[in-house]
Amino acid sequence: MQDFYSAWLKQSESIEKTVADAPRVAKGKNLNWMRTRQDSKAALMIAPELGFPTGGSLLMRAEIPPGWHTGKEPVSYLSGLAWPLEASVYMGRMEQIEDAGPNDLAALAKAPGEESQYWPTDGRRIAMHEEQFELSGETKHGATYFLMGRNGKQNGFKATAAAISSIFVDLPHSKSHSHAHPEAYLYALQGSGYSEIGGKRHEWDQGDAVHVPPGMMHHQHFNPNDTDMKELRFEFGIRYWLADQWKGYTTIDRHMKATHMDD
Ligand SMILES: [Fe+2]
Repeated sequence: MQDFYSAWLKQSESIEKTVADAPRVAKGKNLNWMRTRQDSKAALMIAPELGFPTGGSLLMRAEIPPGWHTGKEPVSYLSGLAWPLEASVYMGRMEQIEDAGPNDLAALAKAPGEESQYWPTDGRRIAMHEEQFELSGETKHGATYFLMGRNGKQNGFKATAAAISSIFVDLPHSKSHSHAHPEAYLYALQGSGYSEIGGKRHEWDQGDAVHVPPGMMHHQHFNPNDTDMKELRFEFGIRYWLADQWKGYTTIDRHMKATHMDD
């Protein structure tokens, strides 16, 4: 019988192979929509269930139909969660209070107001409007707007488990910096382009999501088209916990490969 240490060595090899061979792009037009007790219409995008080797995180897209706690039009939303991580360390707990459904006026009247909606100075901020996006001085993309910021602690947010950190703008016929760091997700808000991840090219369009896997896989993003490309960036706090354990997980922000398109 194989001893436990030999099994760990084997597992380590298999982890490397899994990450190397995994998918990188979730196509928005191929989502497997379903109804859940939480949402009238929801689909996983980047998730372990779909073969993405995530660091215990996932990205879900969902829609709230008109009259279901919203207005006259459907609301489309993206949700970044650390549920697989929380569950695997036996620290996750989900409790279903009420199933999704049309407005119940009596239940709505009983629900307390969201006091932190407008960011009282010592509260947790939960909303940020477009005109409040903070233009950063970074030059890694055509422009970077900070939302929850790197580490999820900017602009009044305290989103250290899962954060929608920023919006990148990549100008026509340009490329991002060439770099490596632990896991991050991008969701294509506008335009289309391609990413080089671990030496392979992956095309994507508006509505797709891109997975930069855990580890230190080199990557770079390219906009070969005539219109701006905009990407919403998600990151998960476990990445920073791991970077604290080993300096090999510190972001490398210089060319390691790739970089074409007019160099
Ligand atoms: Fe990156």
